[in-house]
Amino acid sequence: MKTFGPQARGARVRPVSATQQETSPMSAIQSVLVENRVFPPSEATVKAARISGMEAYQALCDEAERDFEGFWRRLAKENVVWSKEPTQVLDESNKPFYKWFADGQLNASANCLDKHMGTPVENKTAIIFEADGGEVTKITYKELLARVSQFANGLKAHGIQKGDRVLVYMPMTIEGIVAMQACARIGATHSVVFGGFSAKAVQERIQDGGAVAVITANYQMRGGKELPLKAIVDEALSMGGCESIKNVFVYERTKTACNMVAGRDKTFSQMLEGQSTDCPPEMVDAEHPLFVLYTSGSTGKPKGVQHSTGGYLLWAKLTMDWTFDLKPEDVFWCTADIGWVTGHSYIVYGPLAAGATEIVFEGVPTYPNAGRFWQMIERHKCSIFYTAPTAIRSLIKASEADEKVHPKSSDLSSLRILGSVGEPINPEAWMWYYKNVGGERCPIVDTFWQTETGGHMINPLPGATPLVPGSCTLPLPGILAAIVDEAGNEVPNGSGGILVFKKPWPSMIRTIWNDPDRFKKSYFPEELKGYYLAGDGAVRDAETGYFRITGRIDDVLNVSGHRMGTMEIESALVAKTDLVAEAAVVGRPDDTTGEAICAFVVLKRPLPQGDEAKQIAKELRDWVAKEIGPIAKPKDIRFGENLPKTRSGKIMRRLLRSLAKGEQITQDTSTLENPAILTQLDQTY
Ligand code: PRX
Repeated sequence: MKTFGPQARGARVRPVSATQQETSPMSAIQSVLVENRVFPPSEATVKAARISGMEAYQALCDEAERDFEGFWRRLAKENVVWSKEPTQVLDESNKPFYKWFADGQLNASANCLDKHMGTPVENKTAIIFEADGGEVTKITYKELLARVSQFANGLKAHGIQKGDRVLVYMPMTIEGIVAMQACARIGATHSVVFGGFSAKAVQERIQDGGAVAVITANYQMRGGKELPLKAIVDEALSMGGCESIKNVFVYERTKTACNMVAGRDKTFSQMLEGQSTDCPPEMVDAEHPLFVLYTSGSTGKPKGVQHSTGGYLLWAKLTMDWTFDLKPEDVFWCTADIGWVTGHSYIVYGPLAAGATEIVFEGVPTYPNAGRFWQMIERHKCSIFYTAPTAIRSLIKASEADEKVHPKSSDLSSLRILGSVGEPINPEAWMWYYKNVGGERCPIVDTFWQTETGGHMINPLPGATPLVPGSCTLPLPGILAAIVDEAGNEVPNGSGGILVFKKPWPSMIRTIWNDPDRFKKSYFPEELKGYYLAGDGAVRDAETGYFRITGRIDDVLNVSGHRMGTMEIESALVAKTDLVAEAAVVGRPDDTTGEAICAFVVLKRPLPQGDEAKQIAKELRDWVAKEIGPIAKPKDIRFGENLPKTRSGKIMRRLLRSLAKGEQITQDTSTLENPAILTQLDQTY
């Protein structure tokens, strides 16, 4: 018998080596449910690890259980540099608007940069930047501090101050990180929008957040192509509702000129001219909003997830140490974009707060060939590699088709830890990653978390937790995860249910910007006893207590690790008022992207066929790309003269999901007004 921790007492594992078992021939989902391969960490890994062995994990969990506030107080003291150390830990007086370390003061940028000055980290490489075309730039902590400070002075010189919101729409560059850190330095709240989102998405986020400035670039480089960013900002600002914007700062990423509006727009060099490289950080209260990041919910428009400074920073730094067991000599690489929460926590804040050397990559994994990740790991001697299952799955396919881009064509011996994030990793992809990238030597940390959680929640610790492919294993110490039924009662291990967190944690979402009611309703529904509702289904292994995430239980889709609401896509489709009468969007499983978007559309014109239908489908995809962004384009579009509805007029979404999957229809369709539409909706364009 082996004890796995408080959430998993009585757990038993059956260790086998990777070579003992063949990859399961069953479908991903089935094999997740019957997975029984276990990979304990090697003795050497355990010995060298910061949290060494399950006993050490257990001891931390026990400490949190024994004295919850004392546990967090200790960690906050050890991991954050405070200008005013907090005396308070958790303030629950206005649930669920929890406060952490409320009387403490700090600056996030000082915790990432100034803190290292005068230490050996000062002259260490902070960022190894590799551009789309392959050029490499390195910058030390000291140089980065000077750049951030100068940028912060530039912002201040334009009247931007503590409490203002600044929208960042930048490519993956050192400059993007500098912009975010500079906002943090002066106490301005940044709101980063992923560079793949449309003008409308930018406009909506400016309007909702009331941003006073935009930081952008003329173009971004992706896969050898120059894509406009500034032109999209111009379009957004011309849509109205963006009167709050006084300045637009433009990084000249390429030499191609872009439109500049006199009096409003300045290039970075114009903005930085004459600015000192010294800027004292503005100290803020621990609860001061460090950033707002928009993410999709099950209804309506994206929500502005508001994060704090103190609690957020504590967790970003600490999870670098715990989850990745970061050592001074590590070269860390998180392949996310700064436009997503993974980029915020594990590119912009966590690695710098932890004093790591990190790789920042501008391009895409398939350019100039699908071996780019492996070649970069070799080139920069990457030791911790953190990516998404969707990238792994697409690179598996590519390397099966072409040996030259297979990981074995690169020297990956520098790797010691692998990570996965953003969606469930199917055991087949896990095994491939483990064998071909990790050489059966590197633990894989499958990290479950969300924009709202700010940092990792449920994941293995590399020097402690025995790994099971497809399982994110156990919650981090201090995180109280549970699986409950609809009344909030815990279900026995082995039964599926709703994933909740029973206690608050420091890096949790504080509210939805401008919408505290929606915050309460979305995350703390009354029937769940005050627990935080993650929005995912999960099941715990009957023996080990390990968690497996079974996917969203709401109308949120996860396409290539990108989170999207079905309602958002439906609203975009019906906004094409000249063509679309009605639309319903569902997800269906996809081998590469995890989930794919399938749209059922009723047109304001006769049912199209053949080429005409293809043409309209293309028009609709382009429309959605313009309304939201190319990532929201439906993969499948199906047309019908109507949508299947119940007698009360509700769209039969379960039936649509079956149709999307190509399943046989087992639901009762007797109430359908016109059964012929099922045949119409069978055809995909
Ligand atoms: O459904 C879960 C899935 O991604 C959702 C959160 O998406 P987002 O806020 O965009 O953040 C992604 C990066 C943290 C979750 O509700 N998800 C994320 N990580 C995992 C996961 N599902 C299974 N396993 C994971 N490791």
